[in-house]
Amino acid sequence: SHTRKRLVMGNWKMHGSLAANAALLAGLAAGAARAGDTQLAVCVPFPYLAQAQAALAGTPVSWGAQDVSVHAQGAYTGEVAAAMLADFGCAWALCGHSERRAMHGESSALVAAKAASALAAGLTPVVCVGETLADRDAGQVECVIGDQLDPVLALGAEALARMVIAYEPVWAIGTGRTATPEQAQAVHAFIRAALTRHGAGQTRILYGGSVKAANAASLFAQPDIDGALVGGASLVADEFLDSAAAAA
Ligand code: G3P
Repeated sequence: SHTRKRLVMGNWKMHGSLAANAALLAGLAAGAARAGDTQLAVCVPFPYLAQAQAALAGTPVSWGAQDVSVHAQGAYTGEVAAAMLADFGCAWALCGHSERRAMHGESSALVAAKAASALAAGLTPVVCVGETLADRDAGQVECVIGDQLDPVLALGAEALARMVIAYEPVWAIGTGRTATPEQAQAVHAFIRAALTRHGAGQTRILYGGSVKAANAASLFAQPDIDGALVGGASLVADEFLDSAAAAA
């Protein structure tokens, strides 16, 4: 049986509205018990953190943000500090999602610094790594993931024990093309070995990329897959909860 507590986290990305979120959040709160012992969380756009907090406080579903500033405060127009996320009851902050690495030029050093900034405010960073299809075709998966992980590993065992890693192959995000459970497990085992060498072998590693109810169970059956980071399927309460229930 799986020793690490399972975690299934939704990443809404830039979707939602007050009206749509109200229905989705109510559905999550009402159905959370279906996930059994699996921990549930949603990462929502910044403007909706207060709404998520109001709807989810006192439920088993925790909430977080999709990014966090590396800076604690100051003249950084448009940035949101970790302490501000903590003010709204956030438990989590995604760091270095591939969309931010690709579209906003986030380097692995910056991503690690964001993780440190989240930790300093008492949040759990969810550090995202993943290779492109070109990387995979070139046989560079471990090299790319290793480079992405290095500055995070350098934060040390104590920090690593307080974070979550998410493996999201870029070619599987929003494409309907999931990594096979074996492909995902191979990379998770590689990440696990790196974490173990740095004294944090029990850090949870989530898989992300076209996870839905129909493929969740076979992914969760892999020994080093501790849960999922779910994009599209997290926008429908039943689909998200059914995906989480597959981990139970
Ligand atoms: O962070 C989750 C994500 O990138 C996966 O998206 O839509 O393929 O589940 P999706």
